[in-house]
Amino acid sequence: METVVSGIRSTGKLHLGNYYGALSNFVKMQDSYNCFFFIADWHSLTTHPTPENLQSTVKQVVIEYLAAGIDPEKSCIYVQSDVPEVSELYLYMNMNAYLGELERAAAFKDKVRANPDNVNAGLLTYPVLMACDILLHHATKVPVGKDQEQHIEMTRTFGNRFNRLYSVDYFKEPFAFSSSEKLVKIPSLDGSGKMGKSNGDAACVYLSDSEEVIRKKVMRAKTDSGPETPNQEKPEAIENLFDLMRIVSTADTVDHFDSLYNKCEIRYGDFKKQLAEDIIIATKDIRERIKEVSADEEYVQKALKLGAEKARESAQKTIREVREIIGLKRLY
Ligand code: TRP
Repeated sequence: METVVSGIRSTGKLHLGNYYGALSNFVKMQDSYNCFFFIADWHSLTTHPTPENLQSTVKQVVIEYLAAGIDPEKSCIYVQSDVPEVSELYLYMNMNAYLGELERAAAFKDKVRANPDNVNAGLLTYPVLMACDILLHHATKVPVGKDQEQHIEMTRTFGNRFNRLYSVDYFKEPFAFSSSEKLVKIPSLDGSGKMGKSNGDAACVYLSDSEEVIRKKVMRAKTDSGPETPNQEKPEAIENLFDLMRIVSTADTVDHFDSLYNKCEIRYGDFKKQLAEDIIIATKDIRERIKEVSADEEYVQKALKLGAEKARESAQKTIREVREIIGLKRLY
């Protein structure tokens, strides 16, 4: 069985984009791959969260992964900092990661542009730690979106460079993959782009949002004054809401509103009301499971303990072998 590794930064509550774009696929992968799903709390430190914030966001992600159907017996679900072995591998790999290639990484350049006052070394070597998350378990498949593909390519570079330096065939090459043929993009409610926290809470529907909150957010989603000519192209804000509807509603419902739009008879109020109700139905089970899992402290703790044990077993083997390859041998 091939090994899959995927990490998520501990950003707290997950939204529909996290769910349809990733988590729902992870749940399906559990039977076909040896899966490691972890919460990248060390990666989160690049932005200096408060201790309280870090702790609560990590826990929320764990709860929502479990609620979505990640089975701790089948997969390994763990928190990155529970497996300190990755930091040792990070130290070794940093010796073979060059300033130039790190500075050229697109995600790094974006962060520098966005936060010129916080260009810390952790941010620069973020791709090295990410590579170590993957190499640590010898994963060959990494389910990530387009924005992370460069990091997977860098992981191959670092692994291959290590192999070459020590004349070994040790690290495998990992590749980005998506389990569904079509990459699902969940649009934002604020009229443009993907659903994401950076657009603000109002633009995201969270899995843990109550029915009332979902209704309120959808009813306030950006629209326009309506189509003026039959069959006109939809502007982005409207197309986005149709995209969302294609995911949560039946094809009949989508066709119904599409034809109203094309006849210039659509009433956005009705359209959004239907969309909200269909989002509520599509997320009902997971909303309820989040409440159940949140109330079951023992289940969460057991899952994380088991996950940390399984991940450390895999990690310790790698560290033993890497030390051997590098020539770090105890002299006493
Ligand atoms: N960088 C990833 C993101 O921002 C998160 C991540 C950290 C990751 N380590 C990983 C993803 C290892 C896949 C594998 O989404």
